[in-house]
Amino acid sequence: MRSTTLLTGMVLISLWRPVFASEAVDTLLDEYRSEGVTEFSLEDGKVMWTQEFTDAETGKVRQCSTCHTADLTQEGKHEKTGKVIKPLAPSVNPERLTQIAEINKWFKRNCKWTIGRECTPQEKGNFLNFINAQ
Ligand code: HEC
Repeated sequence: MRSTTLLTGMVLISLWRPVFASEAVDTLLDEYRSEGVTEFSLEDGKVMWTQEFTDAETGKVRQCSTCHTADLTQEGKHEKTGKVIKPLAPSVNPERLTQIAEINKWFKRNCKWTIGRECTPQEKGNFLNFINAQ
């Protein structure tokens, strides 16, 4: 009897549990692993965050930090629209890295804008490790 109640309770708790940053991140990292990535590097993600890419059309330098700043706990500012972007660091903004669709959408847009191409699974995994640690 008791164990059944306990089990039911545990199932309910697991259903009600909100999606934490690490769950969405874990799912995506698993996806990248299934695409052949064996190891992720927080350090490489950090380096690439402020790496300078020159836009072919405008000749202007673009970085992830252009809009998000180098300190992810701070608010950023959109380079084109001037709109405030809430901090990316999950430590100060718990909503970050909780929605897979959101992460995918912005990786796609931001990598294209910043680097001029989509990011590879390796690069995305490195970024996720870096951002998640902020
Ligand atoms: C031109 C401005 C701009 C640049 C440059 C930029 N981003 Fe973003 N990024 C945004 C905006 C706008 C959003 C969505 C608004 C928001 O969530 O506050 C966003 C959201 C994100 C998110 C979604 C996080 C979440 O869970 O809510 C990730 C991840 C991200 N950016 C990563 C990157 C990476 C990696 C780079 C560099 C390759 C980068 N961004 C460069 C503007 C930018």
